[in-house]
Amino acid sequence: MDRQGKPFASALDAIGNTPLVELSRITRGLDGRVLAKLEYLNPGLSKKDRVALQIIEDAEANGSLAPEQTVVELTSGNTGTGLVIVCAVKGYPFVAIMSKGNSAERVRMMSALGAEVVLVDQLPGSNLGQVSGGDLELVEQAAQRIVAERGAFRADQFRLAGSVRAHYLHTGPEILRQSGGRLDAFCDFVGTGGSFAGCAAAFKEHDPRIHCYVVEPEGAAVLAGEASMRPNHRIQGGGYSMPVLPLLRHEHVDGYLQVSDAEAIETARRLAREEGLFAGFSSGANVAAALQLLRSSQRGKTIAVLLCDSGLKYLSTDLWA
Ligand SMILES: Cc1ncc(COP(=O)(O)O)c(C=O)c1O
Repeated sequence: MDRQGKPFASALDAIGNTPLVELSRITRGLDGRVLAKLEYLNPGLSKKDRVALQIIEDAEANGSLAPEQTVVELTSGNTGTGLVIVCAVKGYPFVAIMSKGNSAERVRMMSALGAEVVLVDQLPGSNLGQVSGGDLELVEQAAQRIVAERGAFRADQFRLAGSVRAHYLHTGPEILRQSGGRLDAFCDFVGTGGSFAGCAAAFKEHDPRIHCYVVEPEGAAVLAGEASMRPNHRIQGGGYSMPVLPLLRHEHVDGYLQVSDAEAIETARRLAREEGLFAGFSSGANVAAALQLLRSSQRGKTIAVLLCDSGLKYLSTDLWA
């Protein structure tokens, strides 16, 4: 139901306007607050529904997507799920190209929603659940081939402005509204960098003193200028060891934080057990980074994070073992 008590016209109207919840249990004993945006409550169970809707509506508006044209994108599962939901409602066939390294739930969910899912082998020696930049390069090559073969629209989440605009126009302003504009910092685990870029732009516009931190996996902090020693980390959805992200604006980055696999996993488990919030690896990474900040430069401050996707997407992994 919308605010006037009328039903929404479609699932697309249920995207966004997610709750912001203070993590008052996990921060016990620390000085300061962490506010978590429950992005896993979007219809596709992740923040990427917002990006999918923005990219498709931008493309409709600028004429780069024709009625009934096939839409193609590479995905770790979340953008694909958002896109198949948007495409189902709007009547576009959708093809998801995904590495075999991502969890099986994502394939089944996209297929159930009507996507054609093309799975791409990982590089020799790679591990399931650990998608590296090299694995992603193979997925990119497959995506380019299929776009050319089918004359499809490429919903390119690494390059299209919709990836940023979704969060600049909606996620960031929602957080500002829900926190009463009283925010000191934001930290975000980066894949395409779209969430960071959009939220940081909205926050800096509101108050340039809001500190924005990029979060990377320990041992793969290439945006911070370090060499990638551990590209095969466990934090699905980002940390691809790509030294250049076209969507990221470095003037909005106040600092870089690193989170280990163990910290991300332990914090995701604490979110579930202590706060009743059932989210994935990268949500654990975001909250772990916020806790690092409360123990150091942002002591006593209010920090916002995104809980990017649902813990349901990782039932086949050992996150909940
Ligand atoms: C679970 C999850 N966390 C984090 C990210 C990174 O978000 P962004 O691409 O906006 O940097 C993604 C991106 O796909 C994701 O799926």
